[in-house]
Amino acid sequence: AEDEVQRLKRLAAEKAVELVEDGMVLGLGTGSTAALAVDAIGARVAAGLKVVGIPTSEVTAAQSQRLGIPLTDFGHYNAVDLTIDGADAVDLADLTLIKGLGGALLREKIVAAASKRMAVIIDETKLQGTIGSRTPVPVETVRFGWQSTERQLKGLSAKPKLRLGKDGQPFVTDGGNFILDCDFGPITEAAKLHAALKSLTGVVETGLFIGLATDVIIARPGGIEVVRR
Ligand code: A5P
Repeated sequence: AEDEVQRLKRLAAEKAVELVEDGMVLGLGTGSTAALAVDAIGARVAAGLKVVGIPTSEVTAAQSQRLGIPLTDFGHYNAVDLTIDGADAVDLADLTLIKGLGGALLREKIVAAASKRMAVIIDETKLQGTIGSRTPVPVETVRFGWQSTERQLKGLSAKPKLRLGKDGQPFVTDGGNFILDCDFGPITEAAKLHAALKSLTGVVETGLFIGLATDVIIARPGGIEVVRR
């Protein structure tokens, strides 16, 4: 049987999928909550909905293919109408997100940045007040010289940790990169921090998503809450 958290996450996912309209280009997110939205989109496609999707990971691409959701890419479309994705931490004050605990942050950000609207679906454990207080910032880093990039990150007073996979080897992203999970503690100036991180040679992208989310849909035990920017 579906546990309660899963049931709430599915309700949030279904709420987000209500935003989907015929003819849209969709950004398809990654993670356990986004997967529920992809399932719901698949069900609507099976019932006749006409959309195309740009997946944010190989895992989501495979799920979408199984469900018969037609996939496309930025060679065919300049913009995405709506992206539905999860998040690891959300600050409701300004809808800043931390993403990438699932390892898909680079494609997720490329898709989010090209989207007119980004609906983020979360359960309430992701509401953590000031961003960074409980969740580290994943920083995607090229493999070559990662130890040098790590030293530069330490210079920005992060506590970087190379992410490992289940096999104990470094986790490798869809883009072939490593991830350094950086604990900064509570982050008060997210835009400044993001800019400083991105200026380091070897850093590909950060999991700080600023000014991208337009809607946050929160699954709470008492019901679904929607926050719009
Ligand atoms: C993937 O890289 C992440 O950004 C996910 O969106 C995030 O980990 C959310 O996943 P869950 O919905 O499984 O918590």
